[in-house]
Amino acid sequence: MKGIILAGGSGTRLHPLTLATSKQLLPIGDKPMIYYPLSVLMLADIRDILIISTPADLPQFQRLFGDGSDYGIHLTYREQPEPNGIAEALLIGAAHIGDDPVALVLGDNIYHGPSLYRILADARAALDGCVLFGYRVGDPSRYAVGETDSAGRLLSVEEKPAHPRSNLALTGLYLYDGTAVDLAKNLRPSARGELEITDLNRRYVESGRAHLVNLGRGFAWLDAGTPESLLQAGHYVHTLQERQGIRIACIEEIALRMGFITGAQCHRLGARIAHSSYGRYVMAVAEELTTAAATAASTAV
Ligand code: DAU
Repeated sequence: MKGIILAGGSGTRLHPLTLATSKQLLPIGDKPMIYYPLSVLMLADIRDILIISTPADLPQFQRLFGDGSDYGIHLTYREQPEPNGIAEALLIGAAHIGDDPVALVLGDNIYHGPSLYRILADARAALDGCVLFGYRVGDPSRYAVGETDSAGRLLSVEEKPAHPRSNLALTGLYLYDGTAVDLAKNLRPSARGELEITDLNRRYVESGRAHLVNLGRGFAWLDAGTPESLLQAGHYVHTLQERQGIRIACIEEIALRMGFITGAQCHRLGARIAHSSYGRYVMAVAEELTTAAATAASTAV
């Protein structure tokens, strides 16, 4: 499965914060926003990932991550010259996707909860059409809203409805089978001039091949498109990290735990930024997991 992170747009609701930088590079807690969606794709065991952003911002992402080899992944980059809609990511990414299934994630969506790794693995294994991820919210008309039957099959999807049929927001993570690019090619711009992801999802709903995974009440799904939600997300991450002493969306740790890199590689990544507590955490995790692996190996002998 291929991965795409859509990290463009003009971030107008965050002006002046985003006048000179990308929204998806703003800090959430101790790391840039894009670390969160990138960690979701890595946890889904996706290693071939395309990052799409504006012509002005794309070089900053390249500077941050390079070709991804430090993290045991393969990153490529493409421009989206204008914010023509989320579904355009599939057209920009058509060559990257080929005939493979693809996971598309929005660069400002943050997922945190128990068993995310398992949820993603199950969704991948069951992929037949598309899998969307729902989350109960108090203000559904800000999002796409889904309605399901008792088996979790989606019956309808609506973008920002004035009168939502449910409280189930459709979050910014989409798993598609190999037909998504062809379906996206047939989309036409909406009244607001965008290729709507909800129109693509509706094609899957109409063919009875759209499934929903409800993330449930123990889960946190946050977006960070306004000053208030940016601050909320930062507080959430900071509070949990301080309390538990572990980091959310630490891509170096995830790369190590997923077996993408070795303990020594992970340690070097931490050492590069050892002046920060983030860097020291990465080094400590590398040491801890390497010791645990060595102990397990010696007791197995
Ligand atoms: O966060 C989940 C919601 O995201 C979904 O429930 C909606 O169905 C979906 O349309 C989207 O709603 P938003 O109102 O958040 O969409 P927005 O235009 O703010 O775009 C979401 C992100 O995608 C944002 O970080 C900017 C980026 N983007 C957006 C468009 C339209 C791009 O990079 N390029 C684009 O062309």
